[in-house]
Formats: sequence, structure tokens, C-alpha cells
Amino acid sequence: MQEKVDAILREVGAAEAKNQEELEQFRLRFISKKGVVGDLLDEFKNVPNDQKKAYGMKVNEVKQAVQAKFKTLIDNLESGQAGTSEHEDLTLPSAGHALGSMHPLTYVRNQIIQVFERIGFNVADGPEIEDDFHNFTALNFPENHPAREMQDTFFIEKNPDILLRTHTSNVQVRLMQKQKPPIRSIMPGRVYRNEAISARAHCVFHQVEGLYVDKNVSFVDLKQTLYHFAKEMFGKDTKVRFRPSYFPFTEPSAEIDISCQICKGDGCQLCKYTGWVEIAGSGMVDPNVLANCGIDHEEYTGFAFGMGIERISQLKFRVNDLRLYTENDVRFLKQFSTLH
Ligand code: PHE
Repeated sequence: MQEKVDAILREVGAAEAKNQEELEQFRLRFISKKGVVGDLLDEFKNVPNDQKKAYGMKVNEVKQAVQAKFKTLIDNLESGQAGTSEHEDLTLPSAGHALGSMHPLTYVRNQIIQVFERIGFNVADGPEIEDDFHNFTALNFPENHPAREMQDTFFIEKNPDILLRTHTSNVQVRLMQKQKPPIRSIMPGRVYRNEAISARAHCVFHQVEGLYVDKNVSFVDLKQTLYHFAKEMFGKDTKVRFRPSYFPFTEPSAEIDISCQICKGDGCQLCKYTGWVEIAGSGMVDPNVLANCGIDHEEYTGFAFGMGIERISQLKFRVNDLRLYTENDVRFLKQFSTLH
């Protein structure tokens, strides 16, 4: 027995590990269940009772030698990689992990929310999977009306009543159904349209819509609110203009343009040499829509608006390809690491 132990101890003493593979070989040979120590332990049951104690002590000796050697081999390997242990500078900061940064769309969404919260709007939320009524019918899109075509979306075959919302106006409908005016809310969220993906269109994007319903709300309130927003978001010198437009759920309706942020109005590719870029749609809530949602349109009026977060972000950060927002390319995202 003593000879066997001595042989093992010699082998352990001489063992080396120049790399992880050799370290693993040492572990397999000595430490693993089927290794040398394991064998010795298995042998225990065959040892006569009166010798068990002495045997146990020898096995322990081997075990401790093996473990100590294993630890030394690991230490040597590690310090071999990091230079000799004498020269290790323990005061050096560790490599650390890079912190993630805020996605530009999250940042812009939060900014939009802050601007409106400061003037008394709260944030409302609703489902992305919607029914036809809340996305279209309540908003005055008659069945088979071409306006539905402009907001084509994704339906499920089993039940054509279920769809992915095309705008967050569905939340306006839900709010009006359950809350009596005054209502003063904005609705940020993800929306879907049946569009081929390109630099300028995507089947998933983000909106912030807003709704203000109360007694005596007028177009003046709409204009002042959106003037305020544009100047807070893009700076005091930003010019704003309203252009007549059409939406089924607002009457009158207006498109809101701001002076181009890139060329400051001189004309460039982004503004197609007009000096203006569109940032939002808006209008006075159609009395039909109020009625559809159970609000007395004799007593109350309201305005609504909606904007794309990608668009606002594009103007702020000059992102010229929509696909960048969803590709998760770190080279793109890293550029926003100072936002908070
Ligand atoms: N819902 C419109 C859209 O998604 C935006 C909008 C909202 C326009 C409210 C006017 C009033 O295109």
C-alpha cells in the first residue's frame, strides 16, 4: 500500500499543466469519480477492518496532495496568462462590463411624454391586438372606405375582426368609452401597417397620439398645444405651419409641418427642397366619433393629434434609414450612449 501511495504522490508532485487541456487531464486522472482517488475510495470496502483506519489516512493524504496540486496548477495557469504573480497589480481597475445605452426611440418617446406631461396630459395605454371597431369603425372609417386602404394592416384568417392596430387612436376610443371628459391624455405605443420594409417605411413603428376633450376646446387650443410642443422639442426658432388635410376621425384636419431641421428652411434632400417637414397629423375630433364613443357632442368638443416617434427621432438625430432602429446594430446604438 505504502508503495502505491508513494508512486501516486510522486506522480502528483511531478504533474504539470501548461494549458487548460492538460489541467483537465490532471482532473480526469486524479480527481474525477473514476480517477485515482476514486479508485482508492472504492477499494476501501475490501480492506480488512483492522487496517481501515490506516488505509483511510493514506487515502486522505493522497486526496489532499491531489487537491493542493490541482489548485497550484490552476493558479500557475492563471498567473501565467496575467504575467507572474509577483508583478500583478491588484489595484488596477477590472476590465468591467460595458453598460447598455438608451435606444433613441425610447429617448425621444420619453422626451415627448415629458413635454406633454408638463402641460397637464397624462399617459394612457391600450392593446396592440385590437378589434375592427376600436381601430376603424368607431373612428369613422366606413366599411370598404378607401381610407382603410391607407392603413392596411395584419389580420388573422380565423377572425377578420381581429387585427394589429394601425395607430394608437384605438386608445383614444377606449378612453372616451370609459372616461367622462375632461380627457387630456397622450398614447405612446407600437403600431403596425402592411408595408414592405425599406429605408422609408416599416411594418412596425411607434406613435404618440394625443386627445383633449372638454367643454369649449377649440382649434386655437390645438394650435397652441402643438406650437408649444414643436418649440420644446426642436427649439424656440422652429417655425410651425398647419396644412389642411383629411382624416376620417377629425374635421377639420390639419397636417403639421416644422421648418426643416437639417437645412433650416433653405431646402435640402430631406425636406425635398421645400424647407418644411411634416411631423404630425391633427384635427378637431369629428362629432360622429364622440357619439360613437358615448360622449355628448353638443356639450363637448376635442382635438386630437398623432405623430411617428421614428420621424421625430429622424429629425433630431438625422437617422436616414428606418431599418436602423430595429436592426440592433451596436455600431448604430452606441452613438446614443450619452443620452439619458
Ligand atoms: N391616427 C392618425 C394616423 O395614424 C394620426 C392622427 C391622429 C391624425 C389624430 C389626426 C388626429 O395616421
